[in-house]
Amino acid sequence: MGGLNEQERPEAGKLANDARSLIESALTEAKTVLGQSELTNRLLNEEIDVTISAPSRPLGGRHPITLVTDDLKDIFIGMGYEIMEGPDIETDYYNFAALNIPENHPAKDEQDTFYLDGGFLLRTQTSPVQIRAMETKPLPIRIIAPGRVYRADQVDATHSPVFHQLEGLVIDEDITFGDLKGSLETFARELFGKSAKARFRPHHFPFTEPSAEMDATCFACGGEGCRVCKDSGWIELLGCGMVHPKVLKTSGIDPEKYIGFAFGLGLDRIAMLKYGVSDLRLMYENDVNFLKQF
Ligand code: DAH
Repeated sequence: MGGLNEQERPEAGKLANDARSLIESALTEAKTVLGQSELTNRLLNEEIDVTISAPSRPLGGRHPITLVTDDLKDIFIGMGYEIMEGPDIETDYYNFAALNIPENHPAKDEQDTFYLDGGFLLRTQTSPVQIRAMETKPLPIRIIAPGRVYRADQVDATHSPVFHQLEGLVIDEDITFGDLKGSLETFARELFGKSAKARFRPHHFPFTEPSAEMDATCFACGGEGCRVCKDSGWIELLGCGMVHPKVLKTSGIDPEKYIGFAFGLGLDRIAMLKYGVSDLRLMYENDVNFLKQF
């Protein structure tokens, strides 16, 4: 521009401006075209088919023993019981002595267990939670305590060194054996159906007096006799009894004023009966093909 004269300048300026706007609009157009083709490409490449099934993520289920434990918890919560837990590692005192099983009692032979350093052992039953409840809970007491128990047993179709029990304890004034029967019969009906009956057979447990074992009408045949109940029509369900006055006293409860009943049952066996499992080992092998049936 500097080399042009007065007349030439406006003309040249106009030409330069025209050239700039031509270049600018060409650039804008090129950008639009490029942008559009990039968008088209992305749309084509990133196309997703929402109808393709997603890679499946395996979902776990609840173990049959957990299912049965939850069922029983529901039944007892419905009857006004509170759930309590005790430790798996216990002392001889809670597992045996306080339950009126003294040092050389033969009941200890059947409940051989795993001993740890420092006088500790793996509990052989959930009954020690009774003692812990009586020591810590305000009266009246109405608890259930599900949990793992241990015994030095050889593994076979009906034995495992670890299995599960559910303990129950009720302590109040004026509790009778009739309350025990009524409560446990109600439980049997909740578990096995409205027409189930309960039958009590005298038995012996060191921590209850009197003691009994309770059977319920077989849920599979209704009492006719079948393979599940080994043709007896009954299924052995639990051990129970009136809490021994010695046990109350040991735990700091006045047996002249308070009385109660206790019961204990095996959860593995109930799960096996309910789901038709014939070998206890299946419950502990974590075989997915077994577990995914529940
Ligand atoms: N603890 C007993 C056992 O493992 C079962 C039992 C029986 C528990 C009678 C109780 C009871 O509370 O009253 O064989």
